Amino acid sequence: MKQHFPALASGFSFLDNAAGAQVPQACITAITNFLESASCNVGMPYAGSQLSTRIRDQTRVETAQFFNCKPEEVVIGPSATALTFRLATALSRIFQAGDEIIISELEHECNASPWRELERIGCVIKIWQAKWTEGRLELADLAALLTPRTRLLAITAAANSLGNRPDVAGATALAHSVGAWVVNDVVHDSPHHLPDIQASNVDFAFFSAYKVFSTHLGFMYIREALLEALPAQKLHFIPDDSLLKFEPGTNNYEGMAGWLGTLGYLRTELGNSLPARAGLIRAYEKIESIEKPLVDYALERIKNLPNAIMYGEPSSQNRVGTFCFNLGQANPLEVVKYLGEQGVGVAGGHYYATLPMNALGLYPTGAIRTSIAHYTTQTDLDTLFDALEKKD
Ligand SMILES: Cc1ncc(COP(=O)(O)O)c(C=O)c1O
Repeated sequence: MKQHFPALASGFSFLDNAAGAQVPQACITAITNFLESASCNVGMPYAGSQLSTRIRDQTRVETAQFFNCKPEEVVIGPSATALTFRLATALSRIFQAGDEIIISELEHECNASPWRELERIGCVIKIWQAKWTEGRLELADLAALLTPRTRLLAITAAANSLGNRPDVAGATALAHSVGAWVVNDVVHDSPHHLPDIQASNVDFAFFSAYKVFSTHLGFMYIREALLEALPAQKLHFIPDDSLLKFEPGTNNYEGMAGWLGTLGYLRTELGNSLPARAGLIRAYEKIESIEKPLVDYALERIKNLPNAIMYGEPSSQNRVGTFCFNLGQANPLEVVKYLGEQGVGVAGGHYYATLPMNALGLYPTGAIRTSIAHYTTQTDLDTLFDALEKKD
């Protein structure tokens, strides 16, 4: 797959994909084509404006295929975090003092801090604690936290720190049984598994295109039936039943052109050129088949590292290829610096996952994190682990 990604030609081993993925040529070409044609705002009858309108509308259609929802349920924004704060502002206008919000202990702060803001209006935050050091979320522990006052459950599809994949559909069914809504962070999972709103049945979900081999955009699914009653902070003339109430200001059309280019790459190169969601489903089957042996291989090599302490699911079950570990007492950032000098990019620190890092007693120093994508090869992993084995 590397041949489709110009940045990979340098030979550098990009193993920090959880922080942001590289983009295929199709994404770059689509951005260039758009900007070379015209850079206009939407909504006017002249050709350049119509191009931007088409790109924006097509983005909603194809992102709905990605989420498995309707185009009328897709909000486009600058980042996942910007969108969760927008949703929290709307919720702060309908939630009441004493309402309860449950946040899983595996969350990135993007799916925690915005809901903590609701403490200002008297909402009560409860943390759904995981079992450590695996970081496993048990449904029985969630059931014990639910009450008739529970309004919201925040749960990730995959933890950006550990790679663990909790049972989102099971948690959603429990939350719905007391009338609570579920907000699902699919940012970390979406480069590895195709989101499926119909299967998870969550009420809100969000991801960032730059983690899915594309541009710096965020997308949020909002269940259609909930949209009208959500009092967003909006320009006064935008109707309450319009998604545009969650999209203040001008959006990033070149970013959308790039995202459409990336979706085209997924369907064409990995999805047997099947159309629409069928092509994406096929592409992600391919991605999973590429990544599974790499996950097994990386786990084996981590086990064999002298002094390695690994956090998260120990086998390839219920996880993606994101690995969090420390090497004895070594400072994670020093290891990251050393690896950079060896031609390998990984992360160190807490990666905004302060809840799990606190639970592990690792905050704020954190741990080393390495994360694969479908363009990762065993050679990349060998470069990483051979360098770690050589380190004194
Ligand atoms: C799991 C997870 N959720 C949310 C975010 C935030 O995404 P954004 O940078 O688009 O706000 C990240 C970013 O690293 C992430 O890994």
